[in-house]
Amino acid sequence: MAFWHRKNRGRGAGEKPDPARLPRHVAIIMDGNGRWAKKRGLPRTAGHAAGAETFRTIAYYCRDLGIPYLTVYAFSTENWKRPAEEVSTIMDLLRKYLLEALEKMEKDGFRIRFFGDLEPLPPALRELCLEAEQTGSQVTAARHQVNVCLNYGGRDEILRAARAWAQACQTGRESPEELTEAVFSHYLDTAGIPDPDLVIRPSGELRLSNFLPWQSAYAEFYFTDTLWPDFGPAELDKALVDYQRRQRRFGGV
Ligand code: FPP
Repeated sequence: MAFWHRKNRGRGAGEKPDPARLPRHVAIIMDGNGRWAKKRGLPRTAGHAAGAETFRTIAYYCRDLGIPYLTVYAFSTENWKRPAEEVSTIMDLLRKYLLEALEKMEKDGFRIRFFGDLEPLPPALRELCLEAEQTGSQVTAARHQVNVCLNYGGRDEILRAARAWAQACQTGRESPEELTEAVFSHYLDTAGIPDPDLVIRPSGELRLSNFLPWQSAYAEFYFTDTLWPDFGPAELDKALVDYQRRQRRFGGV
């Protein structure tokens, strides 16, 4: 058991985060669905269904707390290697929750964005993603934005951004001399969205797995053994309390 886990255990239990010092952007690797299902003798797909419910609960909880941005890792560029049935269950779940989001977005004050290369997705799902982004962009009283990483890989995102920037150089809209971090950020999927302050990975794995590597450069990390389907509001409270105990120096003293 890593030192991380011992340090986190028991800390913040039952304690509520200070509403005045919440992160602006929380990013979560929704990991452990398969193990959650296995422990119950269920198929892995049941774990994803439970994980999708947890996603909904946590999105509403973040909105209610007043956290403006939540980003979740739903499907990576590597997840296509999983059995076809599992991939199609995840796509079906995304479709189901997107349809629901489309209906409720306006009333519930949500926006939605997708990070990743949507091109290889089934065309109907891709259209739905674009429709949800478009509908969300018109929600004037949005209190919360959910970003879903779909067919997302951090290195792939950086390569796509580099390609787009290089093309802009060829047409004279950009020049290598004027390249700064801020300029490059405009070419990333996350353009216009603040970097995550807190990155959470449940299920005991201590890896970033190609999740927002550029944007997480100064993020705080929180790891827990809890599996994603069991990660409820009380678990998020613990992560937020832990985050609020940290001192962020961004390279300063
Ligand atoms: C990782 O757990 C989880 C995924 C690759 C899929 C996440 C997808 C969902 C929660 C459902 C759809 C999402 C939304 C936003 C509605 P794992 O399968 O790798 O778990 P394991 O490590 O225990 O096997």
